[in-house]
Amino acid sequence: MAFFITFEGVEGCGKTTQLKRLKERIEEAGERVTATREPGGSPVADKIRAILLDAENRDMVPLAELLLYAAARAQHVQEVIAPALERGDIVLCDRFTDATMAYQGYGRELNLETIGQLNELATGGLQPQLTVLIDCPVEVGLTRALARIESTTGAREERFELESVRFHERVRDGYLRLAATYPDRFVVVDGSGSVEQTEVVLVSAIASRLPDKLRAAFGGGRVR
Ligand code: TMP
Repeated sequence: MAFFITFEGVEGCGKTTQLKRLKERIEEAGERVTATREPGGSPVADKIRAILLDAENRDMVPLAELLLYAAARAQHVQEVIAPALERGDIVLCDRFTDATMAYQGYGRELNLETIGQLNELATGGLQPQLTVLIDCPVEVGLTRALARIESTTGAREERFELESVRFHERVRDGYLRLAATYPDRFVVVDGSGSVEQTEVVLVSAIASRLPDKLRAAFGGGRVR
């Protein structure tokens, strides 16, 4: 039962945790899931991710950044997402085209129409059937994200976390505008509470948007 769901939101909104929980829930219901992320999700795209998120690359110009996101996405769609959907998997992707609109468009203030064209080119027109926007105040999210970076021993993927609060406010507003523009595709969930609170709201908010077979397996949106 191919179905494509993306997760979006500002830094530290909790989307990665919620994606993992939804993956487990869907697998328990007996469906096959491909969980992936952007930028990255394949070996080549992960190398592009490392360039994009390295805080030492502070000289990268916004247009180069935009083109690298598009390059990573083209690779990821062709190598991972499209084949998974062809196999009939449910694909859960941590960020996708809306992130480019929100970060490079509203955040960096690059031309939205150009970004739309690049997104179309990179994806071959593939769009998510459902986008979960986990919304929370920028200060709440950044506090969580910076605490996570401090506790990590791996590469410090902090180029975006180091941007100004105003940049992140523009990103958040951009996401909310996208959600208002595409209400049939977006579900907005408040991510400022605990993981458990967010999960309860998320599951009941998306249940009616899922294909019948999956909704039935979810118990009509009831939470365990
Ligand atoms: P993450 O925090 O979900 O791992 O995402 C990595 C960063 O990449 C995050 O700061 C948002 C940024 N990003 C963009 O700026 N544009 C994009 O198109 C994508 C997919 C991510």
